[in-house]
Amino acid sequence: MIVCHCNVLTCRHVREAVDAASGRDGLTLVTPGVVFKENDKRPRCGYCMPHIHKLIEEHLTDNTVWNNSKL
Ligand code: FES
Repeated sequence: MIVCHCNVLTCRHVREAVDAASGRDGLTLVTPGVVFKENDKRPRCGYCMPHIHKLIEEHLTDNTVWNNSKL
């Protein structure tokens, strides 16, 4: 599904960018700006920002060890 129509970024582009950025050193704060940078794109209208932010949050939550804990 296309998330950013200005740059034709899909959910997959977002997830791959999150994996690349967060896996590099484990300390990178992944923001929508990081997702654009990982894809060599720049935000234009900004309409997609809230959706990209939500995808980042969901993807990071799905991949954390805390996800399966009972805390
Ligand atoms: S829809 Fe992403 S910058 Fe416009």
